[in-house]
Amino acid sequence: MTRRAALTVLGIESSCDETAAAVVGADGRVYADVVASQVEAHAPYGGVVPELASRLHLEHIDAVVARALADAAIEPSALDAVAVTVGPGLSGALLVGVSAARALAFAWDKPLVPVHHLEAHLLAVHLARDVEPPQVPYPYVALLVSGGHTALYRVDGPLSIELLGQTRDDAAGEAFDKAAKLLGLGYPGGPRVDRLAQRGTPTDGAFPRPMRGRAGLEFSFAGLKTALARQLELGGQPADDAALADVCASYQAALVGSLVDRSLAACRETGVPRLVLTGGVAANSGLRREAASRCAEAGVALHVPPLASCTDNAAMVAYAGAMQLVAGHVRPDLRMFTRDERRTRGRFDRDGKLRAPPRT
Ligand code: KG4
Ligand code: ZN
Repeated sequence: MTRRAALTVLGIESSCDETAAAVVGADGRVYADVVASQVEAHAPYGGVVPELASRLHLEHIDAVVARALADAAIEPSALDAVAVTVGPGLSGALLVGVSAARALAFAWDKPLVPVHHLEAHLLAVHLARDVEPPQVPYPYVALLVSGGHTALYRVDGPLSIELLGQTRDDAAGEAFDKAAKLLGLGYPGGPRVDRLAQRGTPTDGAFPRPMRGRAGLEFSFAGLKTALARQLELGGQPADDAALADVCASYQAALVGSLVDRSLAACRETGVPRLVLTGGVAANSGLRREAASRCAEAGVALHVPPLASCTDNAAMVAYAGAMQLVAGHVRPDLRMFTRDERRTRGRFDRDGKLRAPPRT
């Protein structure tokens, strides 16, 4: 039997299209990590359908929690707390996880710890799945790139996170998915564009590199997507598989180039020579390769967690909850957050508001 950390937390995540539960120690060790993905159910619609997501969460949540407890071989009485994602995310989807967590915490007489989904992503690099806990010292700059979010943060500690800049329009994952849709590749398109891009050759200047030469740490991908749509309108769909692979390679190179430009600029601006990638798009092979080579050139240490830590999961939620307990500061309410709440620079407030006025 594995020896457990002093503090052990059950985490629950249901903010989008994964129903997840996990049992994690405050040292980052993952004892159980269960994710029921809905991606196939949403695929025919070309994106996540909120009502369908809520219903599927309702169907799966009990079994997912039971499985996590069984996998961890832990009795509820041995848990120290229940942590749950309270936002940002789809309201109906969040409600399922929050209601389940509230009921369980009440029934088991455990503290309920509300967790900010993005904060959980930013701490996921500390999770240890079948390995010793990784040594990732604070502070670090984190690039969070997913289907719903694209932003840079300075992370000074589990409870000290500063937003440096985020996308003005689409998230990077959305930009991949929209490109895939335009090219008739289906949903979710990111992995498909990535696979094709690996076989193609990028053409210099085929697409504008977003935000190149602009000051600041914001992203913008709407123009890139429009450039692809315009090309297809004028020139038609790529003539053959080789041409399709080249278009994917060029599109991905522009997108990834922008992500790495901004990430390294954030490291320079903050004077923090350490970069963490997280979120589903961190799976992208082009991003991993370019980040690795340019970080090495720039003397920046790069940490890319395993994919299971990058995509939505409950282990990161449990860990973020454990960090609140360790600090003795548990978020005081269970307020929901919307994804557009922080479109300017500023500090994470633990209530989800901007703590400092936007900087210029
Ligand atoms: O973090 P995630 O699993 O879910 C949330 O958005 O919360 O991220 C999913 C996004 C999708 O947009 C998907 O297309 C993208 O990540 N993605 C990728 C790759 N794998 C997943 N994008 C580019 N390259 C990939 N290999
Ligand atoms: Zn997420």
